Amino acid sequence: MTDTANQRSIDTEKRLAAEAAAELVEAGMSVGLGTGSTVAYLLPALAHRRLDVCCVATSPATFGTARSLGLDVRPFTGIDHLDVAIDGADQVDPAGWLVKGGGGAQTREKIVAAAATRYVVIVSSNKMVESLAAPVPLELLAFGLDATLRALGDARVTDKPASPDKGVLAGYFGPIGDPGKLAEWLSAMPGVVEHGLFPPAMVSDILIGQGVHVHRRCPGD
Ligand code: 5RP
Repeated sequence: MTDTANQRSIDTEKRLAAEAAAELVEAGMSVGLGTGSTVAYLLPALAHRRLDVCCVATSPATFGTARSLGLDVRPFTGIDHLDVAIDGADQVDPAGWLVKGGGGAQTREKIVAAAATRYVVIVSSNKMVESLAAPVPLELLAFGLDATLRALGDARVTDKPASPDKGVLAGYFGPIGDPGKLAEWLSAMPGVVEHGLFPPAMVSDILIGQGVHVHRRCPGD
């Protein structure tokens, strides 16, 4: 397959997974909207359904696009729970661990995922991996940045602009090993605002576009 044809089939898989996820949304729901190129297919599919839903967005980009499509997107203030959140991922391992944050939005994405009763992950088949690989995206506090980087060891700042919450976007390049242990270590590290490891317990469904089909997996199946 040429690179262009390969990219086209990945895009088709993203679109199919996103459209399947849009079908899971029901009128009256509160919906968390993720960030990225897969979510870019979700937004028009959801808008097309013309449901009476209230949405929150995980990034300014998603907020703007969703609003321009006529979705009712609100600031995530005064809303303490979401019925469903739908988002992409960079990697999904066989146990259902995710690496997220390729778009630098992992902090808001994790807050939205944690607030949702149902968290639906939408991916093309190339995101399914045998084991997670570095880097793990990080959001770091600017205060004491060099000390935090030193404590992390194998971590470096990216050239991405600061997060909407003024966090410094970085990547952890050390070994991942057991993702649960690494997630615990990163979460306990002073100066780490959030990391891009999302545990299987957070994930309700993984919708995987594969060729012209969508497969549904639940972590633990
Ligand atoms: C953004 C994310 C995205 O969900 C992840 O990077 C996947 O992006 P895409 O759908 O463009 O492949 O975590 O912070």
